[in-house]
Amino acid sequence: MSIKAVVFDAYGTLFDIQSVAEVTEEAFPGYGELITQIWRIKQLEYSWLRSLMRRYEDFSVVTRDSLVYTLRCLGLQSEPDAFERIMDKYLHLELYPDALATLAALRGKQLAILSNGSTEMLTTLVRNSGLMLDATISVDAQKIFKPAPEAYALIEQRLGAAPSDVLFVSSNPWDACGAKAFGLNVAWIERVTPEAMALACVENDVLPPLTMFKALRTQLDELGCEPDYRIRALAELPALVGAG
Ligand code: LAC
Repeated sequence: MSIKAVVFDAYGTLFDIQSVAEVTEEAFPGYGELITQIWRIKQLEYSWLRSLMRRYEDFSVVTRDSLVYTLRCLGLQSEPDAFERIMDKYLHLELYPDALATLAALRGKQLAILSNGSTEMLTTLVRNSGLMLDATISVDAQKIFKPAPEAYALIEQRLGAAPSDVLFVSSNPWDACGAKAFGLNVAWIERVTPEAMALACVENDVLPPLTMFKALRTQLDELGCEPDYRIRALAELPALVGAG
């Protein structure tokens, strides 16, 4: 495998979407984790449904609408400034601890993000994070969300790298499957192992929201696509591509 470009998913892969819990808990004490999980699940669901309906709105709209749904379904009223504070966190998500060092060790390869995030969201998020990238690619250009093949086709259009020369990295199983189906080399970051998942389920007779989220969104899906590599952290990537 001679990799010329390493392309990352953003939310959940380079950036920890669970870091919104600090602001959701501050705004709604006792509901922070539940809001965080329902919000992410609905956000992704809306991206898939809008793609299937051919009714694209950018990810800032989908993120806003899924937060509105979450608060409404929980019977929570929010003041506009509290709502905007929660939304603003999506522009200041925490990087995973090994993200900066991993990208530094991958210098020499083309490094990019391919994300459902809107161009404006991603530009602000990357600027706030200090990440150094050759390109930040939003699916806005295709008006359809991942895992549609048109989204992954943006990589060659923007970087000039053929799918066989690209390693796509995502922690989102559905995204890893979509990238594999498109023809990219894929490294899936398996941050929750099946053993840890099973243990979390047997330990609790009532599953906390985060455990339910992990059961729904962190285990490899049955979609007929296997990633080429299953890694446990971003830090494993330089050795995988022969860099660093
Ligand atoms: C991304 C989210 C959806 O595309 O994982 O960054």
